[in-house]
Amino acid sequence: MLERLNQQPPDALLALIKMHAADPRADKIDLGVGVYRTGQGDTPVFGAIKGAERRLVEEQASKSYLGPEGDMGFVHGLAPIVFGADMAASDRIEGMQTPGGTGAVRLALALAKAGGCKRVMMGTPSWPNHAQILDDLGLELVAFDHATSEGDANFAALEQALSGAGEGDAVLLHGCCHNPTGVDYSNAQWDAIAAMLADSPVLPVLDLAYQGLGQGLEEDAYGLRTVLAAVPEALVAYSCDKNFGLYRDRVGALWAMAADTDVLDRVLSNASSLARANWSMPPDHGGAAVRVVLEDADLTAQWLDELEQMRTRINQVRTKLGEAGTAGSVDLTPYARQQGMFAMLPLSKEQIVALREDHGIYMAGSGRINVAGLTTANIGTFVAALAKVTG
Ligand code: LMR
Repeated sequence: MLERLNQQPPDALLALIKMHAADPRADKIDLGVGVYRTGQGDTPVFGAIKGAERRLVEEQASKSYLGPEGDMGFVHGLAPIVFGADMAASDRIEGMQTPGGTGAVRLALALAKAGGCKRVMMGTPSWPNHAQILDDLGLELVAFDHATSEGDANFAALEQALSGAGEGDAVLLHGCCHNPTGVDYSNAQWDAIAAMLADSPVLPVLDLAYQGLGQGLEEDAYGLRTVLAAVPEALVAYSCDKNFGLYRDRVGALWAMAADTDVLDRVLSNASSLARANWSMPPDHGGAAVRVVLEDADLTAQWLDELEQMRTRINQVRTKLGEAGTAGSVDLTPYARQQGMFAMLPLSKEQIVALREDHGIYMAGSGRINVAGLTTANIGTFVAALAKVTG
């Protein structure tokens, strides 16, 4: 039976990590996978997380099973950050821990499917795993252009997609720091999206994987909170990979908002049984560390400070890119007004390969760069190489 399986290509982004690691050039530049890097090019463990981990080592009394919902102290500690205190207290909203943001997206879309969803509207390009998960679940992807060629949100395309959507449809929206384009909806556009969704049977699924890396924790939650305040039901997929630096510990959460508490109970019972069938229960350690951070005022303050340093550095790199003006045929100015860790360069496959082979600059095959991979030491080299391959 197993011989019938076809060979699958390795995940392109994960393969890039290995390709970069194998490159012996000392001046290579990694703009591939989405991990934050300091000005020295490191991805350190947050001090606040180290502090929480020390406490867990000393104080954690058991590693016995929790349940498919994971650590509810983590979920409830995080909820006010995501929703704001008032909305987080609503009895129409409840969540559970998931293995990373991917687990949360998977669960959200599986729940939508179990509720009768057949099609998912999604702005493209998007995080490649979104389409993979939709495909794996047998949900039809209805794509619309996320961004204009000038590097702004293509609001008209979203409007058109939503006006053609109806019963049995969901829309998957990035809450902030769009991956891969860095192009986010403005607050006024979110207001309009919320108004459109309020008048429609389309289920909103919001993916918030970079809260705090755009303009700030509150600012980055504007779209999500505005949509949730307007609609009867929604699903939220959340990741702590970036804003707590917990990548490999796989820390995420799924929240459901339902029209009433009876429906919410049913949604959660479905989420629990889907989780049980998929991974039984999420890994505990990272979620427990986040809980400890959020339960302690000093560790929380330290985390907020570390997050602010990351955001500030990313925005400084963006400003520098914008100041560079153009590099060959690439206009770098839109990157200064976009946000989060990613930007899309309008490059051909050949130009991406030339940057990698001739200049040691690694980026996703789509032309996405991780802005956090640029530093004051390498940004000049990057802009010069870009000018060379596109000039
Ligand atoms: C990315 O987009 O680079 C990250 O979210 C890592 C991943 O899992 O794709």
